[in-house]
Amino acid sequence: MESGGFFIAIEGIDGSGKTTHSKKLVRWLNKHGVKSIYTKEPTNGDIGRILRSLARKKSVDPRVEALLFAADRLEHLNKVIQPYIKKEYVVISDRYVYSSLAYQTVTTSDPEWVKEINKFALKPDLTILLDLEPRIGLSRVKRNRTRFEEESFLEKVRREYLRLAEIDGLKIVDASRSIGEVFQEIVREVAKYLKNKVI
Ligand code: ADP
Ligand code: TYD
Repeated sequence: MESGGFFIAIEGIDGSGKTTHSKKLVRWLNKHGVKSIYTKEPTNGDIGRILRSLARKKSVDPRVEALLFAADRLEHLNKVIQPYIKKEYVVISDRYVYSSLAYQTVTTSDPEWVKEINKFALKPDLTILLDLEPRIGLSRVKRNRTRFEEESFLEKVRREYLRLAEIDGLKIVDASRSIGEVFQEIVREVAKYLKNKVI
């Protein structure tokens, strides 16, 4: 079945279940005959690797970091997202522009500038926000924590995500429930957009 190309972004704080659900969604779509790919930010490319290493540093100029996230996104868009949309895939991105609009607004305190440097970012057809208390998200993250994975910081990021969701109409999903329940709601939402394309 053809989907005609569709772009979905999955957003949320660390530990909210983005990777789990993005990958499940790709498997579900492929199983139902809809060509779909999983992709993520920060990417595994050169700029993404720099960003992952910066996340482990104690202090980094937040503007330099914001510009690098935007640069990584532009590469991602040019090399992965747009080519696959053209090939009529459903592209599922684990984090995208709202990660910068939320995290970098908190780190730089300059929402207008963050928006400006991300102006090029193609708008997803659907952005799903997995909303969760940072305390729960952090309890799910087993690895060593980065600068971004502090409860008080993530409280601010969560508030920013919710504010943006209200303004821009992101689909908010309560991510405190079981994986099965959360996934069911995601599938319901996605099926609405892909109706007539998926069984
Ligand atoms: P993120 O990509 O948002 O950081 P992950 O998908 O990597 O989050 O999930 C972090 C951890 O939490 C994983 O071990 C995953 O299995 C677990 N997890 C994800 N969603 C849930 C959920 N709804 N309930 C309980 N554990 C979950
Ligand atoms: P994460 O999703 O944890 O990727 P990985 O598992 O590959 O390390 O992202 C790393 C961190 O980057 C995460 O804590 C959030 C942060 N981040 C931003 O601050 N802004 C952005 O635009 C993106 C994409 C991520």
